Amino acid sequence: MCGIVGYVGPRQATDVILEGLRRLEYRGYDSAGIAVVHATEAGGTISSDKRAGKLANLEKSMATTPLAESGTGIGHTRWATHGPPNDRNAHPHLGSTGRVALVHNGILENFDALRVELERAGHDLISDTDTEVAAHLLERELTAGADLTTAMQRTCSRLRGAFTLVAIDALDPSRVVAARRNSPLVVGLGDGENFLGSDVAAFIEHTREALELGQDQVVTITADSVSITGFDGAPSEGRGYHVDWDLSAAEKDGFDWFMRKEIFEQPRAVADSLLGRRTSSGALHLDEMRLSEQELRDVDKIIIVACGTAFYAGMVAKYAIEHWTRVPVEVELASEFRYRDPILTSDTLVVAISQSGETADTLQALRHARAQRSRVLAICNTNGSTIPRESDAVIYTHAGPEIGVASTKGFLTQLVACLLLALYLAQVKGTRYGDEVTQVLDQLEQMPEHIESVLAAADQIYELAAAHTDAKTVLFLGRHAGYPIALEGALKLKEIAYLHAEGFAAGELKHGPIALLEEGLPVLCVVPPRDRDQLHDKMLSGIQEVRARGARTICIAEEGDTAIAPYADVLISLPKVPVLLQPLVAAIPLQLFACELATLLGHDVDQPRNLAKSVTVE
Ligand code: F6R
Repeated sequence: MCGIVGYVGPRQATDVILEGLRRLEYRGYDSAGIAVVHATEAGGTISSDKRAGKLANLEKSMATTPLAESGTGIGHTRWATHGPPNDRNAHPHLGSTGRVALVHNGILENFDALRVELERAGHDLISDTDTEVAAHLLERELTAGADLTTAMQRTCSRLRGAFTLVAIDALDPSRVVAARRNSPLVVGLGDGENFLGSDVAAFIEHTREALELGQDQVVTITADSVSITGFDGAPSEGRGYHVDWDLSAAEKDGFDWFMRKEIFEQPRAVADSLLGRRTSSGALHLDEMRLSEQELRDVDKIIIVACGTAFYAGMVAKYAIEHWTRVPVEVELASEFRYRDPILTSDTLVVAISQSGETADTLQALRHARAQRSRVLAICNTNGSTIPRESDAVIYTHAGPEIGVASTKGFLTQLVACLLLALYLAQVKGTRYGDEVTQVLDQLEQMPEHIESVLAAADQIYELAAAHTDAKTVLFLGRHAGYPIALEGALKLKEIAYLHAEGFAAGELKHGPIALLEEGLPVLCVVPPRDRDQLHDKMLSGIQEVRARGARTICIAEEGDTAIAPYADVLISLPKVPVLLQPLVAAIPLQLFACELATLLGHDVDQPRNLAKSVTVE
């Protein structure tokens, strides 16, 4: 939520920052702004521009009235929290005298009290944001004689809540200073230049060397130095790492949307997430699993916490873990978890699933679990992000950067990681024989090929979408591991096509939702494989009930499923795979359907209204 960029170096800061903001726009697109600092005879000055709406509005304005040439600057793309998205509330915010410019991602919880204090002291705050108080506090420290780094340290110790702050000082064009608490920030290490970004996409075309910052740190970058302290001024350090993807991964590559590109990247993303998971003897091996085998053997309950799409991956994990290990699993929305006083012990394993690794609800849930002495394992796609850093163990997915706001390859690779975790627990606890684990691993390794074959039939799904552009409601049904997929299909349609969509466990239909059925209403049914005959036959009955009420049945079923064919108005074939692996192929037609329908309806698929990737506020 909110994208932040900072730069110091020999290039034009405005070019570097605009490019960075373009790559971070998926984090928020309510407004965009930029500020640069340059030396003048009088000491120095800040010029800035900020515009409501997408980055294009700022670019248009800067094309007419360019900012001064400078090698030092900051930029911001906003997802509004406090105050409507207009020019006035756009970042950067300036202090009273214009000496400081500051951008912010997060929420300052005590901004009201600080605003009163500042106004009493004669400060004139002009926006509705929580951020502006930080600009005024910072400027007050500078005016009192502190340098920008010290001023930032002092300001941060007055703030409560979640924040990444990045600032420049008109009288010191050599540096950009940033701070973080509960909100993401990485440093990009260049040669004679340095960068700051909410994530590495901000500077990936310039450097793949990055520094991950810890909690409550202040970082000062100049063209040739990076120094880090705590809020108390004590020297500190970041963790350096090499980014294992490059610029091409952050480009659309000829696709109309990042989302569509990411859907088609899934065979590779799944294959990469499976790479290097076997030892030479063939056993399953998870390299970042920092929990000992004994600790895992002691686990007597698992609670999975996640939000949105990641929560649905957690629901699939429950089926797999309970089936293969017999350890009870609860799946909980991260935003609800700590408010219900969950029963946690040191033998409870809490699994936090998050593509971004920055989702505030999930982060707070894991902190709550750790405070109760439970161990936390993260499933995450973003190296260096907060959730894996604060967890006891991690399984990284290798989807590469996910830029489309609607999660697709992030989801599929979360499913892979969940299945790997379930198998690993079964191996360690001895609840499955080694050859059973090997057999499932073999089947998993065939999944990229199966996913490829589903993608090859994308045209059928596109035709289906074209036939439903006037749909007002779409329902999704599933059973067992297909139930979370039905929920995921509905979520995708809501978030990018803005359609009313609901997912149900097929068996629940007759307990209420069946009243929604009417002539022609599209119902997408995820049919379990035939080898689960009870499940399959129950689903078949559900489909017949739907059809009997005139609704249109669109069935996603295993190839050769002749029992379903007579009751399907449309039949979409999936490769034959075991029921616990079926989500990996069944999700794909639903992703394609939502992407195509949203495109045909003229929506911005990558930047759906009101949403942003990486929800860093609670
Ligand atoms: C839906 C979607 C969201 C995220 C959710 C959690 O397409 O992307 O529902 O899944 O906000 O995000 P992460 O996985 O980053 O914690």
